[in-house]
Amino acid sequence: MESPPPSPVAAGPLDRDLPLARIALRSTPEARVLEGHGLAFWREGDRSLRDACRDIGRDVESVELALGTARPPTSPPARDWWAVSVDEVLARVVDGHHAFARAMLSRLEEAVSRVVARHGHSHPELIVVEHLVAALHDELLPHFAREEQVLFPFIRHARSSAPALAPASDAAHPTRTMLAQHSGTTELLDELVEATDRFAPPPTASPPHVALYRDLAALREDTLLHITLEDSVLFPRALAASGL
Ligand SMILES: [Fe+2]
Ligand SMILES: [Fe+2]
Repeated sequence: MESPPPSPVAAGPLDRDLPLARIALRSTPEARVLEGHGLAFWREGDRSLRDACRDIGRDVESVELALGTARPPTSPPARDWWAVSVDEVLARVVDGHHAFARAMLSRLEEAVSRVVARHGHSHPELIVVEHLVAALHDELLPHFAREEQVLFPFIRHARSSAPALAPASDAAHPTRTMLAQHSGTTELLDELVEATDRFAPPPTASPPHVALYRDLAALREDTLLHITLEDSVLFPRALAASGL
């Protein structure tokens, strides 16, 4: 006898009223659902699901339904990044996202030069990809260093009872700089999406070429969540704690 189709798990009735960033940061599968429906949570993290769907003519109920079935029922409860300590957010950024991106960029630089050497003549888009990987490296590594050496120590210090290292307003400038650099990074990632045809290797691609595109997609996905965590959680909380 044919078994009945699985009944969809109802999404929280208020998903449509939540900002995109809150939904995306619940879990990677839910972030994928948003992107799959054309909802750019990394650019419009503060916009509600309902408004963001209306903007692009998308049916909000179908997105809610997809969100409700995105995560396996056995997954642990999503972490609420707005409720945990700022130290926990900082640890996720530095030990999670920064460490992942540094390791991945180092791997990608080697991988892309090998793939270009073998296939660049027949796939000139790979040369564009190589330039974009170099540009991401040059943009992200100094950005991480500035966050870790300037902004994050300031945020940690501002939350301690120790005497101020500097006026609270000193956090505003590096925060604005970081936000602007995030926009530059997302533009580079957009160019990468275009150059790789959404990370779809050609049918005749060699295994290293396929692996390169898979790793590029992973770097992009992690970077978009990283930027969302900083833009929508860390920086607003840090500025609020500094009284700005
Ligand atoms: Fe960061
Ligand atoms: Fe950042």
